[in-house]
Amino acid sequence: MSDWQSTIAAQLAAETRDPTARWVQLGTVSADGAPAVRTVVFRGHHGEALVFTTDTRSAKLRHIRHEPRVEVLWNFAQSRMQLRIAGKMVAVAGDCPDAALESRRRDVWRTLSEEVRAGFIGGPPGRPLDEPRIGTVTPPADGPPPATFALLVLWPERVDQVELAPQPHRRTLHARDAAGQWHARAVHP
Ligand SMILES: Cc1cc2nc3c(=O)[nH]c(=O)nc-3n(C[C@H](O)[C@H](O)[C@H](O)COP(=O)(O)O)c2cc1C
Repeated sequence: MSDWQSTIAAQLAAETRDPTARWVQLGTVSADGAPAVRTVVFRGHHGEALVFTTDTRSAKLRHIRHEPRVEVLWNFAQSRMQLRIAGKMVAVAGDCPDAALESRRRDVWRTLSEEVRAGFIGGPPGRPLDEPRIGTVTPPADGPPPATFALLVLWPERVDQVELAPQPHRRTLHARDAAGQWHARAVHP
């Protein structure tokens, strides 16, 4: 596990009772070049990748199909530490040829609350309220996920970590080399 991954694991372990510790901000770029940022819930790892969920009809999915480079901002408020995790994001919907990722999609689906699952048969995100729902019965956790349910899988390439608790403040850039090994470099904050 790299330094920054251990840091996230330690932060989550320390803040298990605080669900907001798993809320991150995901920045994408739209097809016309406009930035867009929104909150998503961290749902776990897939190897080195970070896993989130979304609706296949959402704007962010269109964004990453056009421009897979994204950045996630993870702010651990108690520790006064932020991590900016940049990399490429892929969407895993029902048509994913990667069996391991499709199996992970089903596993994550099983962990979702009824309230969250119900959202995936609602009307299209961001569209007027008079546009119809696509279903009335919430898909069960132990059945197949609906086609609107996607994992967002972020394969990290660079991490910029800033810590304001220590004096002097610390900033560390984590990057991978050609062999895939992570290296950390301290820089001026
Ligand atoms: C606390 C919180 C958690 C959220 N978690 C998610 C999430 O895990 N996945 C998601 O797609 N949207 C989540 N949302 C909604 C998004 O922030 C956003 O409004 C929605 O996905 C539409 O974004 P888009 O139009 O840019 O695709 C969450 C919002 C809040 C306030």
